[in-house]
Amino acid sequence: MLQTVRPTLNPDLLDTGTPPIPQAQGWARSYDGRSGPLIDLSQAVPGSPPPTSLLQRLGEAAALPDLTRYGAITGDLSLREAYAAEIGRIYGTPFAPTEIAITSGCNQAYVVTMMALARAGDNVLLPTPWYFNHEMTLTMLGVEARPLPCDPACGFVPDAEQAESLIDAKTRAIVLVTPNNPTGSVYPPETIAAFAALCARRGIWLVIDETYRDFLPDGVKAPHEIFATSGWRDSVIGLYSFSKAYAVPGWRLGAITAGEAVVEQIGKVLDCVQISPVRAGQQAVAWGIDGIRGWRETNRAEINARAGAFRAAMAPLNGWQVLAAGAYFAYVAHPFADVPAAEVVRALVGERGVLALPGPYFGPGQEQHLRIAIANVGKERISEIGERLAGFTL
Ligand SMILES: Cc1ncc(COP(=O)(O)O)c(C=O)c1O
Repeated sequence: MLQTVRPTLNPDLLDTGTPPIPQAQGWARSYDGRSGPLIDLSQAVPGSPPPTSLLQRLGEAAALPDLTRYGAITGDLSLREAYAAEIGRIYGTPFAPTEIAITSGCNQAYVVTMMALARAGDNVLLPTPWYFNHEMTLTMLGVEARPLPCDPACGFVPDAEQAESLIDAKTRAIVLVTPNNPTGSVYPPETIAAFAALCARRGIWLVIDETYRDFLPDGVKAPHEIFATSGWRDSVIGLYSFSKAYAVPGWRLGAITAGEAVVEQIGKVLDCVQISPVRAGQQAVAWGIDGIRGWRETNRAEINARAGAFRAAMAPLNGWQVLAAGAYFAYVAHPFADVPAAEVVRALVGERGVLALPGPYFGPGQEQHLRIAIANVGKERISEIGERLAGFTL
């Protein structure tokens, strides 16, 4: 008989965790409806579709023969120009379209950025709790995801001094997510400035993922001022997603903001992984940046109101503690000491029909915590969460 040798898979990929959301959604399938319809607070998805005007633009763009062709590697100029103007307004400083790359979502923006910054054996600092796809990406690339623990008592805002003590010769970047997934914490501009200064001083990159930038609390004008400093292009890279603010996660559109030389290098990776981003969606969103501005603002105000409604719903409950809440998320401590968070989540969905995500999905030291995606459901259903949780025991 012919001898065969079984090939193996990349061990770094085998070491990477399985996507967690399908597992949690699997637990929800066994819910029998005894406490009312399922309240799904597991995945950060917009609760309703975008306005019809945006959908119509997509339909029109999809019917254009010209958009069936490959486009520019870093995205069509119309969207890069519109997005550069938009962030120019937000940060109060001009950006060139050559400083923008459009990607198939912010997850892809992150993967290609990490491929551009780090190689196997390097490390990248991730504040914990972290966004699980950030850790998974690094692990599969053979790059160490080095935890930077955030203190619940400080609202899960990371500390730059503590970060500095974790930097070594192999550290290539620090990643901040603000407003944060999973905690909902909004980092103060001074904290972001301290991290930018630290990265510039130590010759490493600050990667700032602002997927939830459009959901800042009322009255906050600019999320931070780091793009207004003259040297940002040497050590800062911004990531963004159109999924949440435009309610189009299925269109797969995100953006990278970086110095032109960095965008050029990232373009090599983008050429390999996507050739060009989906074109019809780019055209629709390029219009939507101004075209649905009013809708986006109303949506922001509505989602902002959910954090307050969630705190109010949880306030009468014994033992449950809302540790942080903002933008899309709330992060809570459950009252069952020594019970694994996954067991709490399974029992909660099985008995009360409320699906959250267990803290350990978001890194080490999170067994006492659950993440609640408050943006998924309307304000009326959020007040119902308190009633569902009342009297719940294990
Ligand atoms: C922090 C963060 N970054 C990136 C993403 C992915 O966004 P996209 O749909 O644009 O890939 C998410 C989605 O939940 C997120 O929470």
